[in-house]
Amino acid sequence: MTGLAAGYDAELRRHNELLRRAAGVRPDDHVLDIGCGTGQTTRQAARAATAGSALGVDVSAPAITRARELARADGLHNVTFEQGDVQVHPFPPECFDLAISRFGTMFFADPVAAFGAVGRALRPAGRLVMVVWQAAERNEWAVAIRRALDAEGPVAGAAAGPDPFTLADPSTVREILHAAGFSGVAFDDVREPVYYGADVNAALAWVRGFTRTAEVLQRLEPAAAARVEERLRRALAERLRDDGVWFTSRAWIVSARRPG
Ligand SMILES: C[S@@+](CC[C@H](N)C(=O)[O-])C[C@H]1O[C@@H](n2cnc3c(N)ncnc32)[C@H](O)[C@@H]1O
Repeated sequence: MTGLAAGYDAELRRHNELLRRAAGVRPDDHVLDIGCGTGQTTRQAARAATAGSALGVDVSAPAITRARELARADGLHNVTFEQGDVQVHPFPPECFDLAISRFGTMFFADPVAAFGAVGRALRPAGRLVMVVWQAAERNEWAVAIRRALDAEGPVAGAAAGPDPFTLADPSTVREILHAAGFSGVAFDDVREPVYYGADVNAALAWVRGFTRTAEVLQRLEPAAAARVEERLRRALAERLRDDGVWFTSRAWIVSARRPG
């Protein structure tokens, strides 16, 4: 990995393993992966569902194209991908045993509609297992990056990008899931670090790809952008260990069930 940006799969390797265990895909399960991105979790589910299947859905066409390429390269025949907005996607009713998501459920404008659609796609007693971020303040990566980016003051016109913390509050999540028809909502506190790259340069390349970082660096005048970049570099260097750059993080594994 030296010199390369981490990539989302590398960043989330610890969370991935916990989600895999919590989901506990069985051989004959039909699995829906919500906001599947390039599909690592979908492929993983398909490998476990040897007599079942996995469907990944994501609103991003490039992500779905890449997900299909990767599944083909893996020789998987029980995995499919569809491009679509989960909030309005025409899922077949009562078709899936399990819905999973690795940080793909925090960006819905209408979360009740989205989880309602997922619930209707699940069989009675079907399960939802998803991992979502806890509050920004509990996430060292979010605090450190925000501090560095905000050090020059507000940057006019810089878009914040999608908010990954909309499902941080358990009572809000419980309310959303109950309104969407789920029951048995439970939260597991996940305290695993996230990986940003093999060295500081790789980690900086990864952070520069984040929407807000790119916006701030592009809109600041060059000297200020250089100072922000230096601050980012220092924040990353402070977290460099023998095996790369790691930040602490806090997430929830949320599980729920469609009534049987
Ligand atoms: C943080 S990424 C996680 C991707 C993937 N689950 C993973 O772990 O690699 C969030 C994903 O949610 C997708 N997404 C956001 N809103 C969506 C929606 N309304 N319907 C479907 N996918 C959505 C994004 O396109 C993005 O791929």
